[in-house]
Amino acid sequence: MSSPKKLFIKTYGCQMNVYDSERMAEALGPAGYTEVSSPDEADMILLNTCHIREKAAEKVYSELGRFKGLKAAKPDLKIGVAGCVAQAEGREIMERQPMVDMVVGPQSYHRLPEMEAKAGRGTRVVDTDMPEEDKFEKLKGRPRAKRGPTAFLTVQEGCDKFCAFCVVPYTRGTEVSRPVDRVLSEARDLVSRGVREITLLGQNVNAYHGQGPGGRDWGLARLIRTLAEIDGLERIRFTTSHPNDMEDDLIAAHGDCEKLMPYLHLPVQSGSDRILKRMNRSHTRDSYMRLIDRIREARPDLALSGDFIVGFPEETDEDFRDTMDLVEQVNYASCFSFKYSSRPGTPAADRKGQVDPAVSSDRLIELQALLNRQQQAFMQNMVGREVGVLFEKAGRHPGQMVGKSDHLHAVHVEAEGLQPGDLRRVKITSAGANSLAGTLL
Ligand code: SAH
Ligand code: SF4
Ligand code: F3S
Repeated sequence: MSSPKKLFIKTYGCQMNVYDSERMAEALGPAGYTEVSSPDEADMILLNTCHIREKAAEKVYSELGRFKGLKAAKPDLKIGVAGCVAQAEGREIMERQPMVDMVVGPQSYHRLPEMEAKAGRGTRVVDTDMPEEDKFEKLKGRPRAKRGPTAFLTVQEGCDKFCAFCVVPYTRGTEVSRPVDRVLSEARDLVSRGVREITLLGQNVNAYHGQGPGGRDWGLARLIRTLAEIDGLERIRFTTSHPNDMEDDLIAAHGDCEKLMPYLHLPVQSGSDRILKRMNRSHTRDSYMRLIDRIREARPDLALSGDFIVGFPEETDEDFRDTMDLVEQVNYASCFSFKYSSRPGTPAADRKGQVDPAVSSDRLIELQALLNRQQQAFMQNMVGREVGVLFEKAGRHPGQMVGKSDHLHAVHVEAEGLQPGDLRRVKITSAGANSLAGTLL
């Protein structure tokens, strides 16, 4: 084993990147790396990047600029760019930034130890292949260290939907699901190390179709029901879902699988059929609304969340009114909303009818104000109710603990003796701007 080396990873973008960063750190363990929390002391810096909007991608170059001084002071420092910007602009990064030693795309992380060895010999390496093997299987087994009460577990990667605005099908490749036995054994391992809540991840997680025992195809609902049988695993969540993949048994699971939490992130992007069509979303406003009705029938107290894009090419005021109207009708618990960002290589990038950025900004402000009001109302509505809270960490002052409710709200409780990992019933007593407070029952 080589002498101890320090690894600093900075993660941008979605939860799948968070999961990937954990796995990359683990993969580099056998090469002698332990993770540190500051780039200043690192022997290797990895930026795990996001390409979804222009601003996200730009951050990589400004962050790299900041590392110039570090590299000058410590010529042995290795700098790697991973993630979706690496996949989309790998060669360009190498040309623009001579200090970058490694570029590694999201499907090649299992090759990191080899790349690190090459970089150590002074060779700059780029790997943005999309091999068909399960990269997570090739990554070294997870060390047996104790874990916090919540964990992500990627079960599906990639996207075949090709929404006209989105880079994900190009940066993450086609939809691939991990086999059932690997997911189950990873989940059992996480639980044996202290995890009580698992969030199953995928770019289109409800399109999960993994190979089950006997070569049979398992959907997400069956996977969830089987995970629910693991003793010690108390809560299951999944994200992100596409409306077209919300199958009947998954909807039913929201009603009858107790460990599946009452929270669903189901992006619609726009409330205008004209825009949905141009976005290539392949669902309509009406089919989405009917779907929501069915899910709420199965689980009336579901906290629904979504994503919206305003200012997509050719979006008129009327289209935007349709979006506002859909939001009014659905009534969300929380949402993410973005100004359309033209992404190179996507079908919408070169379209006519790009919307004036000032108009998009106004629309975003108006939409966010409405979404905010709904979020506040949903939280106010929790006051007086009894919810489950899985405690995660100490609060701001002694005697306070913070955890997440079934509906994914942060909840602060004053109580002595609570430990991270405790799952307790709590009565909600007040709602703040971003969190709730309550007392133990
Ligand atoms: N697979 C998920 C999420 C993908 S990215 C899904 O389909 O829901 C997360 C969100 O970023 C998207 O839902 C969308 O709202 C937003 N997004 C994606 N591309 C964008 C772009 N070019 N400009 C602005 N927002 C974008
Ligand atoms: Fe992007 Fe659409 Fe795929 Fe989601 S479904 S990742 S928005 S292409
Ligand atoms: Fe970003 Fe890639 Fe995730 S583009 S949102 S990091 S899949």
